[in-house]
Amino acid sequence: MTQTSPTIRVDQPGGADAMHLVDLPVGEPGPGQIRIRHHAIGLNFIDVYQRSGLYPQNLPVQLGMEAAGVVDAVGQGVTHLQVGDRAAYASNPPGSYCERRVMPATCVCKLPDAISFETGAAMMLKGLTAQYLLKKTQPQGGLQPGDFVLFHAAAGGVGLIACQWAKAMGLQLIGTAGSAEKCALALENGAAYAINYAAEDFAARVKEITGGQGVKVVYDSVGKDTFEKSLDCLRPFGLLASFGNASGPVAPFAPGMLGAKGSLYLTRATLFTHMATRESTQAMADDLFAVVQSGQVHIHIGQRYPLNQVQQAHRDLEARKTTGCTILTL
Ligand SMILES: NC(=O)c1ccc[n+]([C@@H]2O[C@H](COP(=O)([O-])OP(=O)(O)OC[C@H]3O[C@@H](n4cnc5c(N)ncnc54)[C@H](OP(=O)(O)O)[C@@H]3O)[C@@H](O)[C@H]2O)c1
Repeated sequence: MTQTSPTIRVDQPGGADAMHLVDLPVGEPGPGQIRIRHHAIGLNFIDVYQRSGLYPQNLPVQLGMEAAGVVDAVGQGVTHLQVGDRAAYASNPPGSYCERRVMPATCVCKLPDAISFETGAAMMLKGLTAQYLLKKTQPQGGLQPGDFVLFHAAAGGVGLIACQWAKAMGLQLIGTAGSAEKCALALENGAAYAINYAAEDFAARVKEITGGQGVKVVYDSVGKDTFEKSLDCLRPFGLLASFGNASGPVAPFAPGMLGAKGSLYLTRATLFTHMATRESTQAMADDLFAVVQSGQVHIHIGQRYPLNQVQQAHRDLEARKTTGCTILTL
């Protein structure tokens, strides 16, 4: 008998109502693949870009890039997972908004028993992102305890993890967020300073906080609205790590601007370059599992929605109504 799974599918890019719940067949895993039964699913801003068409997909597309569950079949050649293993992943290709799926095993990691399925589903894509940003996306000479960094959208999913992890590394993270309540949340989670960028000129405040010096790194996932001012927050030779477009993509600009503002460095970073191999994925995941199990990073799940209410979940994420991580429940 063919098994099926409730699955969220997009036939044409568009708003939240472009997502539909359909029942799709789930086959057997081929070589290098596993089949997994999800217990919880993570929601990410990248799902919005894929749904809207900002990141074009082959259509129809099953959305979702993060989940946790139990492995229920293993294809040929997969050695790091067995049937019955608890597991979690950040995946490319998408397709995690479902109950069961067949997928490449490379990106799937065994989930330590001490970490719940909900936490696993919430933290993989966002936590691995915080990992590569803070540990592997560094300015010339690296980061030392005491250094200032600026992290935008600090009360969001990636943001609250980064606040805590940066504190554990001894960094002074200046977080920005869009309301006083969100700023308070960032401070509670380890940000050394918080700036309400809806009310204040964040570049001026950063200069004030750092005694006119500027920060060594700006981690900018807001994109269009913050890009130029982010450059003004950097000290000479500083690094702008652009990693998202929550307000829209950064407009084209002349590289001379980086020279004029102090021989700055710019990278447009993405998690999936760092997850190119099973080894690199596992090394990053081990680092994430360790910092979560040590209690230094707590995964803040701010919202839960049943899978069939994914449209509302997207609307709330896009309307900046969410804080921390959001999960879809089954
Ligand atoms: N490149 C990568 O490897 C990678 C990996 C993971 C995530 N990301 C990016 O990192 C960012 C955070 O992802 P997340 O899933 O954790 O989302 P999130 O931070 O929970 O949500 C996005 C936040 O961005 C802020 N924002 C600023 N301007 C906005 C606008 N015009 N519309 C909507 N939101 C706006 C909002 O916070 P305020 O209200 O406080 O401004 C909002 O809560 C996203 O841009 C995502 O694409 C990139």
